[in-house]
Amino acid sequence: MTDYIDTFINLGYILASILFILGIKMLSKPHRARQGNLVSAVGMLIAVVVSLFECCLTFEWVLVGLIIGASIGVMAARLVQMTAMPQMVALLNGFGGIASLLVGWETYHSESAETIFMSASILLTVLIGGVAFSGSLIAYAKLAERIPGKPMRFSGQQPVNAAIIAAILLGALIFVMNPAAPWSYPLFVVIMILSLALGILGITPIGGADMPVVIALLNSYSGLAACAAGFILLNNVLIVAGALVGASGFILTGIMCKAMNRSLGNVLFAGFQTTARKIDPGAGQGEAKAISPEDAYYVLEAARSVVFVPGYGMAVAQAQHAVRELGEIVANNGAEVRYAIHPVAGRMPGHMNVLLAEANVVYEQLAEMDSVNPIMETVDVCIVIGANDVVNPAAREVASSPIYGMPIINADKAKSVIVLKRSMASGFAGIENPLFYKENCRMLFGDAKATLQQLIGEFKES
Ligand code: TAP
Repeated sequence: MTDYIDTFINLGYILASILFILGIKMLSKPHRARQGNLVSAVGMLIAVVVSLFECCLTFEWVLVGLIIGASIGVMAARLVQMTAMPQMVALLNGFGGIASLLVGWETYHSESAETIFMSASILLTVLIGGVAFSGSLIAYAKLAERIPGKPMRFSGQQPVNAAIIAAILLGALIFVMNPAAPWSYPLFVVIMILSLALGILGITPIGGADMPVVIALLNSYSGLAACAAGFILLNNVLIVAGALVGASGFILTGIMCKAMNRSLGNVLFAGFQTTARKIDPGAGQGEAKAISPEDAYYVLEAARSVVFVPGYGMAVAQAQHAVRELGEIVANNGAEVRYAIHPVAGRMPGHMNVLLAEANVVYEQLAEMDSVNPIMETVDVCIVIGANDVVNPAAREVASSPIYGMPIINADKAKSVIVLKRSMASGFAGIENPLFYKENCRMLFGDAKATLQQLIGEFKES
């Protein structure tokens, strides 16, 4: 009988793992992403049910936790504004980290960590979980603008961080070699506190345009912490799921580093400079020129090729449906329409893809930065909708700029550029944008959705 149950449990875990992998694969194509999410969720349901079978718990407390957690989760997901999604994702990463930390802490108490394998697994879980938790809280606070998004440092921060890492490594070594020693528990608690401190002190100096890398990395840490917790609980599906999140988070970190043209070491240790806030005198030319919606309509009406570049402001304005409607009108007017997506546009990976997919933009019209840049000089009108840093030519032209070297969408190379934003304010990186002062650029001031609706109105009236 026990053999049958074991076989059932293992088959359940294999099925859940296959569904996770299929789900992740489906997420890579926008039109299959929703089903991918569902497939992974079914995998998780199977994993949870089978895990409950495997462990010999009575289920009352599990059910209480499940009901409280699920109620909070459902409420939060329904109430959260689309613009607050990035910080919610950061918070969820943090919850993953603290859950693993608590598993490690509890296991330390309930089972004696006598073998090196067990004590090392417990320590890794607590260590990575702690960094993921406190680091994600800082990322949340930065994204939610509860604390300044720019890097925050104090003098001597790097030596302090290095000392904390050295203390953790030394403490970990002593703990793992002597898990049953009488002083091992105080040491364990000190390591836990140091890992929480490392998450805070490691993430506060990172900010500005480097945040996408940090978010992907913390996502990966929460997966690795879960994977380590799987080793403590000897739960195969937790090991697989944690490893999948850890690995995909690292791949995403690599993609974000490439998108920023930065190495991971550079992001983590060099910091993002925010001192060069002024435009290089040679980079900006004269004054920014405003354009009215009526005049912008005439420019658009005559265009034969149009590229829309969405950014965070499109998410703030919830302008994705209006963007799609204007895109259709311009296409029906005979223009070739594309939507150019920068990998770090918005505030979370895939932010623009999610919004444009929600508005049913035709997938074939979505273009990646690398495919749209070579043809930008042939584009009649490039409409920038609430994007700023991702179209900032200082990344190409101003050697002293903190974003110098970051690949951007070359909106400034189009024959004419119309920028939809509310003011001359800077973007997330906090630096000025020479694009707004270029000869071929016009500023169409106002909330992006209201402005797009005005443009749509002009087309409809004509
Ligand atoms: P940003 O550079 O942040 O610029 C957004 C612009 O939208 C602002 O300049 C703002 O100007 C405008 N805006 C805001 N609300 C608006 C509204 N209602 N209507 C019209 N415009 C509005 O955005 P981006 O170009 O997408 O670049 C993303 C930045 O965020 C990068 O620096 C990136 O590194 C960082 N970041 C990205 C991520 C991920 S994973 N994607 C995560 C964290 C940080 P006004 O105030 O003048 O309107």
